[in-house]
Amino acid sequence: MRSPLLNKLSLIFGPRPPLNWILLCLVSVFVLIALLGSSSTTFDLVTSSAKPDIYANYRKLKEQARNDYLELKSISLGANRIKDVGLCGKERENYVPCYNVSANLFAGFKDGEEFDRHCELSQEYQDCLVRPPKEYKTPLTWPSGRDVIWSGNVKLTKDQFLSSGSMTKRLMLLEENQIAFHSEDGLNVDGVNDYSHLIAEMIGLGSDSEFLQAGVRTVLDIGCGFGSFGARLLSLKLMALCVAAYEPSGSQVQLVLERGLPAVIGSFISKQLPLPSLSYDMVHCAKCGIIWNSKDGLFLIEIDRLLKPGGYFVLTSPTTQQQHSRTTSANKGSSPLEELTKKLCWSLLAQQDETFIWQKTADSQCYTSRQGEIPVCKGNDMQIYYQPLAPCISGTTSQRWVPIHSKSDSLNSTELEINGKCSFWIQPDDFFEDSDFWKLALRNYWSLLSPLIFSDHPKRPGDDDPLPPYNMVRNVMDMNAHYGGLSAALMKEGKSVWVMNVVPLGMHNTLPLIHDRGFAGVLHNWCEPFPTYPRTYDLLHANRLLSHIASQRCSMFELLLEMDRILRPEGWVILSDTLGPIEKARALAAQIRWEARVIDLQNGSDQRLLVCQKPFVRK
Ligand SMILES: *[C@@H]1O[C@H](CO)[C@@H](O)[C@H](O)[C@H]1NC(C)=O
Ligand SMILES: *[C@@H]1O[C@H](CO)[C@@H](O)[C@H](O)[C@H]1NC(C)=O
Ligand SMILES: *[C@@H]1O[C@H](CO)[C@@H](O)[C@H](O)[C@H]1NC(C)=O
Repeated sequence: MRSPLLNKLSLIFGPRPPLNWILLCLVSVFVLIALLGSSSTTFDLVTSSAKPDIYANYRKLKEQARNDYLELKSISLGANRIKDVGLCGKERENYVPCYNVSANLFAGFKDGEEFDRHCELSQEYQDCLVRPPKEYKTPLTWPSGRDVIWSGNVKLTKDQFLSSGSMTKRLMLLEENQIAFHSEDGLNVDGVNDYSHLIAEMIGLGSDSEFLQAGVRTVLDIGCGFGSFGARLLSLKLMALCVAAYEPSGSQVQLVLERGLPAVIGSFISKQLPLPSLSYDMVHCAKCGIIWNSKDGLFLIEIDRLLKPGGYFVLTSPTTQQQHSRTTSANKGSSPLEELTKKLCWSLLAQQDETFIWQKTADSQCYTSRQGEIPVCKGNDMQIYYQPLAPCISGTTSQRWVPIHSKSDSLNSTELEINGKCSFWIQPDDFFEDSDFWKLALRNYWSLLSPLIFSDHPKRPGDDDPLPPYNMVRNVMDMNAHYGGLSAALMKEGKSVWVMNVVPLGMHNTLPLIHDRGFAGVLHNWCEPFPTYPRTYDLLHANRLLSHIASQRCSMFELLLEMDRILRPEGWVILSDTLGPIEKARALAAQIRWEARVIDLQNGSDQRLLVCQKPFVRK
């Protein structure tokens, strides 16, 4: 494998005759030394502002890593390399495991369940690296990348390309293979700002900038089109997570993530979403294709489970309006949807054209005084990993039954203690210690994401020195999020990223707390593939996940391959664990062609960091 630096130099110097080899190697070493020399000053600034305790040795470590780098480069030029894992075929360019409809049908799933996630059937496992399509280009940096994407990076059919789409799926073709969505310069392609204002007015606010004050902080956007409503909400400092079913092409989730917005594949055809009860202030569906009154209201009951007390369900659908007007004018009786919402103790707050807004009750006593046959669930509903949809109302006895209007802006220790007495265990001291730890760790992590240790790619000839981490980091996943400390630290530092907080199955289920902090997150079993498209994350972070999955007896190699699938080319990985698992991961990382460095924190523990970068492999 040739070094990227050599590639770049050969670009600068033109085609490379064999005689120039040695000269180029020399030049590259000089350039490298020059680059590294300038890097240590930047690094001084970073360390001097950080607390001198745990990470005091970082400068030395970085020098060490630099030596390792030169050493490894020379080894990798030699012949005795371990055999690399091969590339998958072209048919796997957009491969998402666990969604093979023909296999599901063959196994007997029907009535829509064939479109559900069925990892238990996955016999398609192959040891290969999913490669990008030929036309794949590095996404534009945030925030330009939110409004314009490369059309070659997502899978769209010709028809989807040609049609301008409905309100929720509107896109505009630009020249140079780019797709534009909404733009700030008066070009309101999708009318989404007006729509967001309309919703705010319908719940009695002056404008959509008042959502936060009204207690609306987290929004679950179901079947989110191409994410423009979410983008609007994010610009208002809300967290809007898009959840949509797997689609082989024209995927909403793929496009939304490509834009740098929060999204995950999910559907609730037969199973609950891997999200805790009482977590969202608003659930939104605009033409999301769900027939809400089917299956005796099971889908609406799932929405009720996810909504916080006093939360809103916003439905924009032309068919609802037709049904509504037809039934109310014809026979004074109420529509099936009205009946169901009454049984759920929701009140219809407003209706305008095709948009309906219901509000979930804030009073848990409502359910006892109501008439209707939807019972209240018995028992604990904490384990919500792809459980079957439940025909009962949940969360009524939870300590987290706190109406959205009475929530304070950020968690304080009183609230933590309330949560502590809930079904999950949290020590306030532990929580605040964790926060401090991540604030410090983040600074050092960020400085480690320096391509100088690895390769030269983001610094292109003539560029000014960019700030770390040099290339785009927008979509971040914390694979073992615990309390969401990394998320909080990133937010506090004002990094323009969002974090998918994943709580692994078998760990303390801290997901309710993560949601109460206003972050996005899901529960996930890391022995299975993650429900997302290839090339959707820029940075994967995992603290103590390697040792956890070892205890779950699943394969570290498969986990790393899966991480490679979901990482963008030139994306980063930070693994933190004890020496054993880290050494093992380092060996595997070499096999899947990542640039990888072990970093010894030298604080007397056997904790190590493994920092990796996925290369941009074409063919
Ligand atoms: C889906 O399953 C079918 C039948 O089991 C199999 O032939 C096919 O290769 C699978 N598709 C993928 C993309 O793995
Ligand atoms: C903390 O939150 C609780 C419950 O929301 C509230 O009653 C209390 O006043 C808050 N305390 C502070 C210091 O903000
Ligand atoms: C060393 O650092 C690691 C990770 O930063 C931390 O988990 C560990 O507790 C530290 N050990 C000591 C002895 O301070």
